[in-house]
Amino acid sequence: MTNIAVFASGTGSNAVNLVKAFNSGNRIHVAICLTDREDIPVIEKMRELGVETIYFPRSVWKENPQTILDVLKSHDIKIIALAGFLSFIKEEIINEYEGRILNIHPSLLPAYGGKGMHGGNVHKAVIEAGETKSGATVHLVTNDLDAGPIVVQREVAVLPDDTPESLEAKVHEVEYLIFPEAVMKTVAAFNNQTPSESNSATPPEIPKSVDDAWAETLGIPNNVPPIPNATQTQFSSQTPPNVNPTGTASHTTPNGPAYHTAPNAPMGQKSLTLQSEQMPPTYLVWSIIMTILCCTIPGIVAIIFSAKVSSKYYEGDFDGARRASHNAEIWIIISFVLGVLSNTLYLPLALAGLFG
Ligand code: GAR
Repeated sequence: MTNIAVFASGTGSNAVNLVKAFNSGNRIHVAICLTDREDIPVIEKMRELGVETIYFPRSVWKENPQTILDVLKSHDIKIIALAGFLSFIKEEIINEYEGRILNIHPSLLPAYGGKGMHGGNVHKAVIEAGETKSGATVHLVTNDLDAGPIVVQREVAVLPDDTPESLEAKVHEVEYLIFPEAVMKTVAAFNNQTPSESNSATPPEIPKSVDDAWAETLGIPNNVPPIPNATQTQFSSQTPPNVNPTGTASHTTPNGPAYHTAPNAPMGQKSLTLQSEQMPPTYLVWSIIMTILCCTIPGIVAIIFSAKVSSKYYEGDFDGARRASHNAEIWIIISFVLGVLSNTLYLPLALAGLFG
């Protein structure tokens, strides 16, 4: 487990995004959030997410970096992520964490970086300059403002009717993707992975949720088939996506996976395959029919044979009572077995493939 610290000065949507991306996994953990302001939304958000947050006045950031370093050391912090942090980081901290402090900036650095360029100011300047593209950059922090080596950068288009606010919303969307990616790259490099692993073109592996890990262990897909015609949740600028970082946010594919039977397999040997299309509408109908057929009908037959047992017995036909009792047992077992099969969904699934 690699502990990271997040520094934030405001809304904290990037800080929240990092916590959601990492803290349910077991590789990277946002252990602490440090702020330089007292009454900012990020403090409450971190509290709700159970992340310890400490406020240090600007004087401490400016004059007493050792206090900050002591806190970082006591939490075994390996990487620092500046998520909208507006105070200068003192040289002592930069030296101690050389190559391990990341900053997210809302432009395509080196453009629109430097003094006074933060948050809304950047977007306003981009729009005023008539740019056709902007973006977000995650870079390593050095003693030169916004000038350290770029770790990840991504563009967004600036449209003629964009305002600073709409541009900010678009840039936030890519920030929620590239910041976790940059953190993972930096952690990988810190943990001495081979250059091919840490710098590969493919996105770094994302921390697994418990569900994903179990699904992988059991060899089953960890995807819930979608409800037909249901709309998928879209990103919103207010709510960061749950980044499931395979370098991408954790969205299901537009149509989500659906279980299907292989089209050309012979009857009775249809194999189950997983395809990216919607669940067949006949599936639900067959589920209901099969549940009724599998559980109810054999159950009724079993009851009829049970009733016969006592009538035969009173007629003095003990052999007939024994046969009826034997038949009742068989039908109870059939009912049980078919019930189990129908509950595992195999039967309705197979029949949906055969007749659907
Ligand atoms: C982000 O857009 C980030 O890129 C920017 O502040 C915003 C913070 O938003 N950082 C800078 O401008 C640094 N120079 P958030 O508080 O919602 O994460």
